[in-house]
Formats: sequence, structure tokens, C-alpha cells
Amino acid sequence: MEQLSAAYQTLGKQLDAILDPKLPLVSNLANFSALLWLEMDNINWVGSYLISSTKEQLFLGPFQGKPACTTIAVGKGVCGEAFQQARTLRVADVHAFPGHIACDAASESEIVVPFYRNGQLFGVIDIDSPQASRFDETDQVGIEYLVKLLENKLGEEHF
Ligand code: SME
Repeated sequence: MEQLSAAYQTLGKQLDAILDPKLPLVSNLANFSALLWLEMDNINWVGSYLISSTKEQLFLGPFQGKPACTTIAVGKGVCGEAFQQARTLRVADVHAFPGHIACDAASESEIVVPFYRNGQLFGVIDIDSPQASRFDETDQVGIEYLVKLLENKLGEEHF
């Protein structure tokens, strides 16, 4: 596996400074998206989908980018599959991914990383790019690291 790159280490420090587990989790998810949106090149969407109380679908959470699909069934699309399989899905060409849900026609590649809250699978972080094969293994290691930092500081469910 790849080492954590210097760029993602720096991003991790920035994230660590702005996340606060005493805040509601929507505040932390909002700033997580905002920081990645600001710092990552060649992305057109970054945000979260959170599991419903029935555990059947994911609902749109805090994000940056164009307005997006609000509901994704577990097992559907890249987000729903990553959640169901509880593992990162890195898609070099979204057009070649069966069942990909196109929220923004500009998207060419995508990475989806599931995350946990209190030991339970809680949602996914989704990042889209207008460039094919935008996310390599270094990005996967880095983004999984950032999502782990987020998990550790996710915060409370309610205001
Ligand atoms: N492409 C995703 C849907 C979410 S948008 O990209 C923001 C998918 O196939 O699950």
C-alpha cells in the first residue's frame, strides 16, 4: 500500500484544526466538504450521503458542488454499492460503471469512502472529478486517512 503523501498529511492537519467533536455532525461534515473543495484540484463535487433510519437508503448530506440526487438506495450507484460493501470504490471511468448515477454530467471519475459512527456504518464521502482517472492509489490512501480523522471527530447527531 502507498504511504500517506505530504499533501494529504497537510490536509489532515488543516482538517484536525477545524473539526470539533463537540459540534453537531452536520457542522463537521459541512466543513469537511468545504476544505476538500477548496484544496483539491480537478473536482466538481464533494460531499456526504447518510444512512436513513430504515437503513434502506442514503440521503444527501452536507456537500459542495451542484445540487445533487437527494436519495440513493443502498446497493445502487457507486455510493450505494460502496455503502453496501462497506469498502472504498474508486471508479476511473464512471461511464463504465454499471448503475452509476449521474448527478452532474461533467463527472468522469469518482471515489466513494464509507464511514462509521459509534461503530455502525453511517454514510459515505463521495468525491467526483471532471477528469477521467483523477483518483489514484495515493489519493485513496489520503482520502481514507481524512475520512478516518472525520470519523474520530464526527460529533453529535442533533443540535
Ligand atoms: N455518482 C453517484 C451519485 C452521487 S453524485 O455523484 C453526487 C453514484 O453513482 O452513486
